[in-house]
Amino acid sequence: MDQHYNYKVVKQFTIATVVWGVIGMLVGVIIAAQLAWPALNLDIPWLTYGRLRPLHTNAVIFAFGICGLFATSYYVVQRTCQVRLFSDKLAAFTFWGWQAVILSAVITLPMGFTRGKEYAELEWPIAILIALVWVSYAVVFFGTLIKRKVKHIYVANWFFGAYIIAVTILHVVQGMSMPASLFKSYSFYSGVQDAMIQWWYGHNAVGFILTAGYLGMVYYFIPKQAERPVYSYRLSIVHFWALIFTYMWAGPHHLHYTALPDWTQSVGMVFSLVLLAPSWGGMINGMMTLSGAWHKLRTDPILKFMIVSLSFYGIATFEGPMMSIKTINSLSHYTDWTVAHVHGGALGWVGFITMGSIYYIIPRLAGQQKMHSTKLIDLHFWVATIGVVLYIAAMWIAGVMQGLMWRAVNPDGTLTFTFAESVKATYPYYVVRVAGGALYLTGMCVMAYNTWMTLRNTKTAVAPIPAVNPAHA
Ligand code: HEM
Ligand code: HEM
Repeated sequence: MDQHYNYKVVKQFTIATVVWGVIGMLVGVIIAAQLAWPALNLDIPWLTYGRLRPLHTNAVIFAFGICGLFATSYYVVQRTCQVRLFSDKLAAFTFWGWQAVILSAVITLPMGFTRGKEYAELEWPIAILIALVWVSYAVVFFGTLIKRKVKHIYVANWFFGAYIIAVTILHVVQGMSMPASLFKSYSFYSGVQDAMIQWWYGHNAVGFILTAGYLGMVYYFIPKQAERPVYSYRLSIVHFWALIFTYMWAGPHHLHYTALPDWTQSVGMVFSLVLLAPSWGGMINGMMTLSGAWHKLRTDPILKFMIVSLSFYGIATFEGPMMSIKTINSLSHYTDWTVAHVHGGALGWVGFITMGSIYYIIPRLAGQQKMHSTKLIDLHFWVATIGVVLYIAAMWIAGVMQGLMWRAVNPDGTLTFTFAESVKATYPYYVVRVAGGALYLTGMCVMAYNTWMTLRNTKTAVAPIPAVNPAHA
């Protein structure tokens, strides 16, 4: 057994990523359509926007996003340490345990059971299961690192490791609650402390799940696919430490102009501005890894996914610091500009780097040379790219328009527009968003078909662990 990598659990998580991607994005398209045509909730409580919205965020972040991170981190840690996963049983528990968490979310969120905290909605029994799965994940990942045959710990593992440790801390601190019944609990925190903990958690979920974990993918899969070494190993280490230190302090930018003490908001703003540097350090390092291999972009759609994802990462991490400036935030907050920023990061960065990495892994798990159809990967790339652009351009315009309409005043001091007028003006942009989202979802369905065609009638590949080069041992 120990002579081969554990590809079984990687394959399970890979398939789960694709399946949950389709479902999570489908729910995204449904809620986008409900914002344009509210009657689509059909007057059924389970299908109301307020219940489906958290289902969407949970399905895309915790099901699609984290299954992708499980798959890639388990693949990368084995390959770079040249050992099998620390424990097959515990790894299997993380797969089935995590699917149980997702299914519980799929059932309880539409029923209306929620802690009422964004990105931490799941009630306490599910939160405890999450903690158990997460600790097992940490044991499998770090256990594998400890038994590695290669002396060096490759930088991708630093990013995956930071994400696993940070999520443990965030989940435990944020999750502190007093259960009142099986499906209801109350947070330990109240008032402004509650808000502060919530956005310390929320922002670091962005920093460690939606950023650090995916940078782990960048550092393994881009060099592999481009067949080039990482541009600067030194830069990767410097921006790693700068990034994880800085993210922790930026949360208050979600609470500008609230009851949070003013100086705290300013600290959040300053750290957010500083965050531009380490973020762009990673983006530039990924881009420069392609130097000398740019011609490959013409023929390799997987590489296209990866490079475009870095461009969106660059955009989101430039836009974020700008939006954290208080005066800019006074315009952007509460508007669809925030939603544009979120989905530039989510669809463009998180979605694309996951898709590129998963396309890299799938054929290898089945012992094949490549995916069933390269043309379909290309089709996916273009459909998804047009989808993201439509989505975020529509929301940028809608957001700035809403902000300007809400603050417009007449010479006598009365508001120029009613709120309802701004909603009416937003309508066409919501329709464009539905179109963009539908395209992005279509791309995901193409990926599901291509995955099915590649994996069907194949057995999980048996990949032998090579003898370690004494220079690396
Ligand atoms: C087909 C693709 C998608 C569509 C159509 C879509 C649509 C939506 C809609 C309509 C909302 C609610 C916005 C509002 O309340 O005004 C939303 C929120 C959100 N979505 Fe998506 N989404 C998609 C994919 C994704 C993906 C792949 C991710 C993450 C990886 C994601 C992460 C989020 C997050 C974090 C929010 C909450 C944003 C906030 O509170 O500001 N979405 N999405
Ligand atoms: C340098 C990096 C970044 C900074 C400084 C930053 C800053 C910000 C700011 C200022 C907001 C608006 C807060 C508000 O007005 O409510 C925001 C919202 C958000 N950002 Fe970023 N951002 C960064 C990168 C990213 C990336 C890469 C993603 C990945 C998807 C992302 C996801 C989000 C999400 C999900 C929200 C909405 C949270 C919510 O209200 O539910 N951000 N960010």
